[in-house]
Amino acid sequence: MAKPLRIGMIGYGFMGRAHSNGYKRVGDFFDLEYLPVLQAVAARDAEKAQAFAERWGYGRVETDWRKLVAADDIDAIDICTPNNLHAEIAIEAAKHGKAILCEKPLSMDVAEGEKMVAAIEKAGVPNTVWYNYRRIPAVTYAKQLIDAGRLGRVFHYRAEFLQDWTISADLPQGGAALWRLDAAAAGSGVTGDLLAHCIDTALWLNGPVSDVTAMTETFVKERMHTLTGKMEPVTIDDACSFLCHFTNGSLGLFESTRYARGHKALYTFEINGEKMSLKWDLEDLHRLEVFDYSDAGPERGWKSVHVTDGDHPYMGHWWVPGLAIGYEHSFVHQVADFLEAYAKKQPAHPTFRDALETQRVCDAVLSSAKSHQWVNVNGKPVG
Ligand SMILES: NC(=O)c1ccc[n+]([C@@H]2O[C@H](COP(=O)([O-])OP(=O)(O)OC[C@H]3O[C@@H](n4cnc5c(N)ncnc54)[C@H](O)[C@@H]3O)[C@@H](O)[C@H]2O)c1
Repeated sequence: MAKPLRIGMIGYGFMGRAHSNGYKRVGDFFDLEYLPVLQAVAARDAEKAQAFAERWGYGRVETDWRKLVAADDIDAIDICTPNNLHAEIAIEAAKHGKAILCEKPLSMDVAEGEKMVAAIEKAGVPNTVWYNYRRIPAVTYAKQLIDAGRLGRVFHYRAEFLQDWTISADLPQGGAALWRLDAAAAGSGVTGDLLAHCIDTALWLNGPVSDVTAMTETFVKERMHTLTGKMEPVTIDDACSFLCHFTNGSLGLFESTRYARGHKALYTFEINGEKMSLKWDLEDLHRLEVFDYSDAGPERGWKSVHVTDGDHPYMGHWWVPGLAIGYEHSFVHQVADFLEAYAKKQPAHPTFRDALETQRVCDAVLSSAKSHQWVNVNGKPVG
């Protein structure tokens, strides 16, 4: 009989649903010492929270997250709120000794992230940040190839995250779901929302970034704010591109925008090594494109590996070889890995401290876009 890990979920939006699905599915496919129990959900609107609780099977509802983080019947707090609430909730949850699963980006900026890391490390509570793309089997397989030394020296890392949903100037900013367009709630625009994912994957696959040079643009300068009812300046970055050096000597090229007409969630990365190159695309997420220079000459070429065989990462837990899984499974995998680490009292990566490194790159990118200078990831100008 598995031991219970009683979850207190805060926020019931997109991620509230994705995580709940992960908690519900995990025990059906993974053998674990601990299994999640959907104990309670907190959100401000009692009626909507109750409807969410009934649909997903949460035992009870709180309308004040502070009561949830202090509750004796909760073991772990899951933070699925807009970014400006992550720090306050995490620090309070740490004081109450709760395990914490926090959505990305970790924080509004590095200074806030450092306070969060200090608080959770002082409290010694288990923690993780939901950079879930690491747990897509094709991405994890890329990590295995890299760790096995199959690429040799790495020369280039490039990543894009392209969307097109904010092109209309009539789209308001602020409030439900559109908090992403308001820097006061989001911290930044595509840098913290989309590039943070690309940066987390890049740091995991290719190691630390030393310095960056960036440009950002805000194409629509004013939008109606749903909270004030007035036209207000838009303070987020609508698009961001940056170059960087990795400490392993490779060069990085990153781009993100919500103005790439035709693209919905085109997260791609490519790594070019001396002996092997790898390419991945979220819209075709179960494939890893591999070019292996050691293949026999005439047959050498790009292979499209369908990462669905039983010996591919995570796939032995699912159906039979050849049958694909999807986006939502990355959250199931993250829950499974978190629970395994929890049982063994080991760190569950990416930890808050890991996610702080992503935050450092994001802050350096935004600082460089402002100063038009190369900036190292500690925030100081280079040279
Ligand atoms: N890992 C990923 O791929 C991924 C994808 C999307 C969003 N996110 C992150 O997840 C977080 C939430 O994003 P989302 O897309 O689910 O947003 P959302 O707008 O769909 O949901 C946000 C939820 O927070 C609740 N909320 C807001 N203020 C609150 C308060 N004071 N107390 C309690 N609840 C409150 C809202 O009612 C809503 O239920 C963000 O940090 C975002 O960056 C991560």
